Amino acid sequence: MVEFSNGRIHFKVFRNKTLGSDYISELIKSEVESNNLYSKPTVLGLATGGSPKKVYEKLITYHITEGLSFKNVITFNLDEYYPIDSKNENSYHYYMIENLFKHIDINLANIFIPNGMLDRNDIPAHCKDFEDKIEEFGGIDLQLLGVGSNGHIGFNEPGSELSSKTRLVQLDHRTRLDTSERFGGLSNTPKYAVTMGINTILKAKKIVCMAWGASKASAISQLFSKKITGECPITFLKKHPKVELVLDEKAASLINPEFFKKESLFNK
Ligand code: GLP
Repeated sequence: MVEFSNGRIHFKVFRNKTLGSDYISELIKSEVESNNLYSKPTVLGLATGGSPKKVYEKLITYHITEGLSFKNVITFNLDEYYPIDSKNENSYHYYMIENLFKHIDINLANIFIPNGMLDRNDIPAHCKDFEDKIEEFGGIDLQLLGVGSNGHIGFNEPGSELSSKTRLVQLDHRTRLDTSERFGGLSNTPKYAVTMGINTILKAKKIVCMAWGASKASAISQLFSKKITGECPITFLKKHPKVELVLDEKAASLINPEFFKKESLFNK
């Protein structure tokens, strides 16, 4: 593993996504365990997509083999397609149940995922409730993030604003293309989503953002330009005091090697 900082952001580059995912699941485990010791709740912000799958697999293993308990864990998911039925296999509700929740001892009342089935008129109130609920639980302790190939975080697409909160958004063409195969073609792929905003995400106490594979390399390289811009929403992470970027070698492949040398890295 290679470790370095750029501004406020701390980077950890692992040889592959399995090693990177192991690191992240250990982080989450120790956060939950130390709160469990004092019967304190842990508020997690969760992501979906391919990126966190191995992290969730490992958390399930910790639950089964070491008895890691999620009874005191509250979760807020970043986003959900709109419109989509929660029973649809491509919904993030379905994803979370299949990939994590049904395998652990989490209390169903402690799970919050944006609702993709509401009438459009009811969405603003739902989004406000979602934001209020996060506050009620004292804010998110650790927000897990993936990144889209266009630099989106959650479903905050290029053009998103720093002040944005949970809301209905239109999906970028590239995002829809990236996922169209799963939906059986572009015409079946949702055009909208409900997502936490940039402001919502940046309010988390800690952020861990992961990126695996060459398709993420360009978005990651934007973190090394001086610009913080809504055109590449991941660059907003530079404003947060406690962000860790966990990468595999391919996602780190466009980071200037000179930078690595300058920062006198260490290898483990
Ligand atoms: C999706 C989600 C994001 C996710 C990103 C990357 O569209 N809305 O929360 O981080 O795109 O997806 P993947 O992990 O499958 O590459």
